[in-house]
Amino acid sequence: AEQIQHEVREVLLSEDEIRGRLAEMARDIERDYHERTPLLVGVLKGAVFVMTDLARSLRIPVEMDWMAVSSYGSGTKSTGVVRILKDLDTDLTDRHVLIVEDIIDSGLTLTWLKQNLESRGAASVEICTLLRKPSRLKSNVFVRYIGFDVPNEFVVGYGLDYDERYRNLNDVVVLQPEVFGGEATDEPVEPARRVLRPGIPEEA
Ligand code: PRP
Ligand code: MN
Ligand code: MG
Repeated sequence: AEQIQHEVREVLLSEDEIRGRLAEMARDIERDYHERTPLLVGVLKGAVFVMTDLARSLRIPVEMDWMAVSSYGSGTKSTGVVRILKDLDTDLTDRHVLIVEDIIDSGLTLTWLKQNLESRGAASVEICTLLRKPSRLKSNVFVRYIGFDVPNEFVVGYGLDYDERYRNLNDVVVLQPEVFGGEATDEPVEPARRVLRPGIPEEA
């Protein structure tokens, strides 16, 4: 724990701030899915904690399923071509699907995933993400529920990893650049901002 604290440049979102925002998003989702049972689709592995906390905040019946996907050519995601590593167990015919993600970076994974799930006969496919990096978006896929916009920094914790580490941090934090071979900096980190009226790209 000491070592991890040493590697943290700044806590971007505390556990409480995350839970609070997820509860607000849950109220929006309850209203929108009134008398429909959404199928929450969590995207492994990053979305595990968002899924578990969001699902437990929801006061409507939901079902949960999981997918694991990987982009081709591990290093770059620029093609937006995605490979399914673990598919859903659930038949999507006439289902209201809500994809649950931890972060949208380029948006290419979700663009592909949304189209893929729509093509299976779902009645609707919407997206819920805790975080979005607006500066990195390369896609105009519509995202209905967004927790926070975050600056273009290396964020980890609450499911987000750097080389598979840090997922188990309770907060979302910005790492010291030294951790991933960068130069130390005194620059302050821009704050995260709640996104109350979703729409991509950027908005005030
Ligand atoms: C991360 C993150 C999103 C995706 C966003 O997952 O959890 O799923 O990248 O990137 P994009 O918007 O540029 O497509 P990653 O592929 O690192 O897998 P993980 O969830 O197992 O960490
Ligand atoms: Mn992921
Ligand atoms: Mg990752």
